[in-house]
Amino acid sequence: MAEYDWKERIPCGAVRAEHDGTEVSLMGWVDAVRDHGNLIFIHLRDVSGLVQVVFAPGLPGAGYEAASRLSVESVVKVTGLVKSRDPSTRNPHLRTGDIEVFARSLTVLSPSAPLPFHISEKAMVFGEEVESNPEKVDEDLRLQYRYLDLRRPSVQEMFIKRHRIIKMIRDFFDERGFLEIETPILTKSTPEGARDYLVPSRVHRGKFYALPQSPQIFKQLFMMGGMDRYFQIARCFRDEDLRPNRQPEFTQLDVEASFIDEEFIYQLMETLMVRIFTLGAVELVPPFPRLTYAEAMEKYGTDRPDLRFGMAFSDVSGILRETGYSVIRSILAGGGKVKGFCVRGRSRELSKNLLQNEYAMKIVPAMGAGGLTWMKVEGGELRSNVVQFFSPGEKRAIIEEFGAGEGDVIMLIADSSPQLVNRVLGDLRLHVARRLLLIDPGAFRPVWITDFPLFEYKDRRLASQHHPFTMPDRTDFDPFDLEDLLSLGSRAYDLVMNGEELGGGSLRIHRMDVQDKVFQALGLGRGEVEAKFGFFLNALRYGTPPHGGIAVGMDRLVAMILGAGSIRDVIAFPKNRSAFCPLTEAPSAVGEAQLSELGLDITGPGNTRPKKAPGEAGKSADPAAGLELISSSDVLHLAELARLTLGDDEVSALKNDLNPILEYVETLRKLDTAGVKPSGPATAAENVWREDVPGNTGDPEGILENAPDREDSYFKVPRILEG
Ligand code: AMO
Repeated sequence: MAEYDWKERIPCGAVRAEHDGTEVSLMGWVDAVRDHGNLIFIHLRDVSGLVQVVFAPGLPGAGYEAASRLSVESVVKVTGLVKSRDPSTRNPHLRTGDIEVFARSLTVLSPSAPLPFHISEKAMVFGEEVESNPEKVDEDLRLQYRYLDLRRPSVQEMFIKRHRIIKMIRDFFDERGFLEIETPILTKSTPEGARDYLVPSRVHRGKFYALPQSPQIFKQLFMMGGMDRYFQIARCFRDEDLRPNRQPEFTQLDVEASFIDEEFIYQLMETLMVRIFTLGAVELVPPFPRLTYAEAMEKYGTDRPDLRFGMAFSDVSGILRETGYSVIRSILAGGGKVKGFCVRGRSRELSKNLLQNEYAMKIVPAMGAGGLTWMKVEGGELRSNVVQFFSPGEKRAIIEEFGAGEGDVIMLIADSSPQLVNRVLGDLRLHVARRLLLIDPGAFRPVWITDFPLFEYKDRRLASQHHPFTMPDRTDFDPFDLEDLLSLGSRAYDLVMNGEELGGGSLRIHRMDVQDKVFQALGLGRGEVEAKFGFFLNALRYGTPPHGGIAVGMDRLVAMILGAGSIRDVIAFPKNRSAFCPLTEAPSAVGEAQLSELGLDITGPGNTRPKKAPGEAGKSADPAAGLELISSSDVLHLAELARLTLGDDEVSALKNDLNPILEYVETLRKLDTAGVKPSGPATAAENVWREDVPGNTGDPEGILENAPDREDSYFKVPRILEG
């Protein structure tokens, strides 16, 4: 006979007062066991919810004793009688809180071993907000046991809502005649600017498929194939430096349409966004504001501005051109800029000490600028350590430019590079807003960023700002004239919300001659273009409709709608910060036989495993795994500790510098030095004074000879932090 009859089952969360007096059959996980001496209470949980079951002594088949021995998270079947609770014992926080089930039988379907961390979310039972990680369980441990983590109702809720959002998206596009069509996963490189994940082919030895960075080329081929309206919830793969909002494998809502323009995309996506944000009880109001790329950079120093708070920049270069403050005057004379923003009414929090000793001396220099000029409005006057250099007219004009009032603080950055001024002000604006809690976490401020430049000049070469299929704002350009190329705009747009890029897209080039010129401009030779995109250029020759589209990062979107702390919270089995899966331990080494079947040979430091993340503690290091190299996330972690902001280039440069050193150390470690005699002293020397350096003889006078400032027998150093 079967262990249980699934047809009898009623979900735990579905038992209600109307079942009073009836017998129910429940199956689920034991969330908690409480022994009250004469009665045992268990909370039984499944994905529908949680119900209280009561075991009284004398249950047939020793059910009471078995209940007292139940380990939490065991899977059990309980049959029992539903009884309404006494009004005084009802639990308004549980949907099943008006009843309890008096057990008549208990069957343990599968016992649970002791758990690596606690699962029950008791806060939920008592109507409290459930913290996403109440016991601060290490994230890697949660990911290693993700199937246990997934049992938590708050975690399940994320995936229930993610499912609803995706279902709503599918319905939305279906209603509008868009077809969901899948595109290949084993494919050829798609240029989105990251490195490809490659898959070796066994049949075509020595050749590789690339996993798609996006379905870009295929969705354009759909338009050439006359499909007119396409969308897909598509998996994409990018081997790039990880950030909190990036995963090597992620999901896009990918959209493309023919015979349309930008307005079609704006309207379509705004209507969709308004609809799906209602699932997070967020009301968005269309039309969304728009900023050109140039405006965004000028006003917020970034192409993904956070508009939940003000502090847009003002340019005061004109006001201070002739100022008596020589530092600023000479920067302006050299073609530089002075810009800044005003923090309203925060003069008290932004004390003189904080502004001067932290922001001006440490934070701003770490962001890459020479310094910070700050001013406060106090008693109707501008005050700071430099206002004495400003004329009354300059002071008045500054106050007017920022619309500054009593208690406001103005922060200015001056530099010979206007780009640096914008970038540092952008970072500073965010830093101050976060520190002073100026950002309303319940606000959602979408904005379209438009009119991007077509190209950017990076690492001494021209590159597409989006991808090479983006339509330029004019087609009469000379592909060999750098200045002309850098002056080109594009018909690309990004959808940004709360400082995060949710999506991006463009109108596409639909003529082969223009596409050809863009490839030429990018320095791609005929042979290379033919090898990489020959099929695509060929397709453009047979009549291509004007078309365009967009892709939205689904993980970022879902995380934003649900207020999740990280995109990893809304991905069922994410990789950790080192692009490693603690559950499956992928990526992992493969056997020689498999490698040779694929015609592959691993050279260099070998089948290296990613460096263990902190949560992998407890797992033994695999001695066969070899050297643990430094990953980009290690470099980023160190940079964070040192309060440094590093660009992608700097991260890879540091990684590239450090890893050969580690590899060299590894080579030394493996050297067989048995029986080799030391060739020099093996112990550290102590108290060796260099006789050739006068003064270094141990007397304080000599040692202090070069001190710029001294007091008795000490160096004097500037005071950094005042008590
Ligand atoms: P783009 O490269 O801007 O455009 O990607 C679109 C959106 O995808 C999300 N995204 C990511 N999410 C998580 N992890 C990542 N590593 C990651 N990389 C990107 C972002 C981003 O805005 N083919 C074009 C779209 C088009 O032109 O239609 C494209 O992929 O939210």
